[in-house]
Amino acid sequence: MQRGWSYPGSTIVLAAVAAAGCSGAASAERTGAVSEALVGDALPGITSTDFVTVRTNFEAAESIDDGLGPIFNERACANCHSNGTTGGAGQNIERRFGRFDNNGQSFNPLANEGGSLRQLFSLGTFNDGATLCTVPVEKEPADATVHNVGRLTTPLFGLGLVEAIPDTLLVNIVNAEPAATRGVLNTSAILLANPDDASEALGGSRVNRFGWKAAVPVLTQFAADAYVNEMGITTQHCVRGTSVTAFCVESAPNGIPQPPGCDDLATAQPTNFPAQTGCPTNTDDAVGACSGIAGGSKIQDDVANFATFVTFLAPPPTDPNTSANGRALFASLGCANCHVDNTVSPGALGAAATFVTPATPAGIRAADGVLRRVPGNFRFHPFSDFAVHDMGTLGDSIGNNAGDSPAATRRMRTAPLWGIRFRNLLMHDGRAGDVATAIKDHDGGSDGQGTAAAAAFGALSPSNQADLVTYVRSL
Ligand code: HEC
Ligand code: HEC
Repeated sequence: MQRGWSYPGSTIVLAAVAAAGCSGAASAERTGAVSEALVGDALPGITSTDFVTVRTNFEAAESIDDGLGPIFNERACANCHSNGTTGGAGQNIERRFGRFDNNGQSFNPLANEGGSLRQLFSLGTFNDGATLCTVPVEKEPADATVHNVGRLTTPLFGLGLVEAIPDTLLVNIVNAEPAATRGVLNTSAILLANPDDASEALGGSRVNRFGWKAAVPVLTQFAADAYVNEMGITTQHCVRGTSVTAFCVESAPNGIPQPPGCDDLATAQPTNFPAQTGCPTNTDDAVGACSGIAGGSKIQDDVANFATFVTFLAPPPTDPNTSANGRALFASLGCANCHVDNTVSPGALGAAATFVTPATPAGIRAADGVLRRVPGNFRFHPFSDFAVHDMGTLGDSIGNNAGDSPAATRRMRTAPLWGIRFRNLLMHDGRAGDVATAIKDHDGGSDGQGTAAAAAFGALSPSNQADLVTYVRSL
């Protein structure tokens, strides 16, 4: 195995390496060019120096002077996304709560009480010069009926390729799935679009593909969302002449806004900032009036760098220590009906589940303003349909939206399986410590679309179980 990327930038050579590097056609597809990367490497399309720059930004710890707080979960993206390498999965398990209204039929995230995410830390007591501030720690409100739900930190490998999947491809996959385990594609309106991607428009609908419950459609939005929700850093952006205000309001512990000056100690924006942008003067990081920006588009620098880092973080390498028997079992037990891939999924589903980037992917700009593209015509193998499935009692009863039905709250996104051997905790709340346990945990009772697969796994001989685990750990 070569160390790192030997052929940066050339997709033609990469394809040749993929074909020459393996024997059987299927394994050439599966391993492909991605096995040339070490975990944590960058995809072609960004120089190693520039990748280090955006990675360093992702690793940078924020302080109260930068805008950290008033409540937060951590001080740096990489403090959570850290297993194996920067951008990996993490040990940090976040907490959510909620309630069911209307005779249990309608999810209420209790947003007015600070939900559904409960940030674990506050700035505590500090002096802003004029006022002694004390920020309370969020508590679960007494009227919550869904308690202390865990969300494990996910790995971020290969997400730039996932971002490049057109909605139509995901629709084709779900349509080809067997009815008994067919998934649902969540969609939502884009709150922060990548201005260089014509398929992303502010307010436009796109298939959600990110997060345990497929709650977020695009990476730039996820970066801004994480910045405010995990760290308390508020941002304002301009997309094609429109000021984006969705991420410029400070979190309020249990819904109670902090007094002026008590959100953090970041420098206030100028007094004309609200009139120019629609955001408050305590917005931590901003680009200002959109009319003053050439082309009308600028994503705030840190968010642009985070999104660029995540876009270029390569998929994890596959492991040559795999099992042909395990691969056959993965197909025959129905794993490949949800964890789809063209090398294992049956019939029309397999043909639909060919993940390949467009010839010329849209591209993204980091804070340096340079437009960079992930490689075109690039095959990749996430082993997911990015759809959500009714997992029965395994589902976490947290809705993505106010008003979600109980059935919708049971749905979880098919977790991508690439790089699973670099993980030590599995499933949405980290309940499983190894792959065999994770498979057994698919049993969600009579409503669970994963129940049959869990039962089929349980019925295998120990050596067949071991082969399936070996295969899954090689992806
Ligand atoms: C406190 C820990 C923590 C911090 C800090 C954190 N994350 Fe995450 N990250 C998570 C968790 C937990 C999830 C899964 C969230 C969910 O699905 O509800 C996640 C998911 C993601 C995803 C979606 C991955 C996928 O599988 O679809 C992206 C992208 C991401 N984070 C980027 C960032 C960026 C950028 C930052 C810094 C601004 C950041 N994260 C900071 C814990 C963290
Ligand atoms: C009905 C769709 C479906 C089927 C069938 C299915 N899975 Fe899953 N799988 C999921 C979902 C959804 C999750 C995420 C569960 C969660 O959120 O806790 C998941 C999670 C996993 C995980 C843990 C991933 C992680 O990131 O923690 C592994 C490993 C896994 N599946 C393997 C398998 C294997 C092996 C089979 C076949 C025996 C299988 N799955 C069958 C939908 C499915």
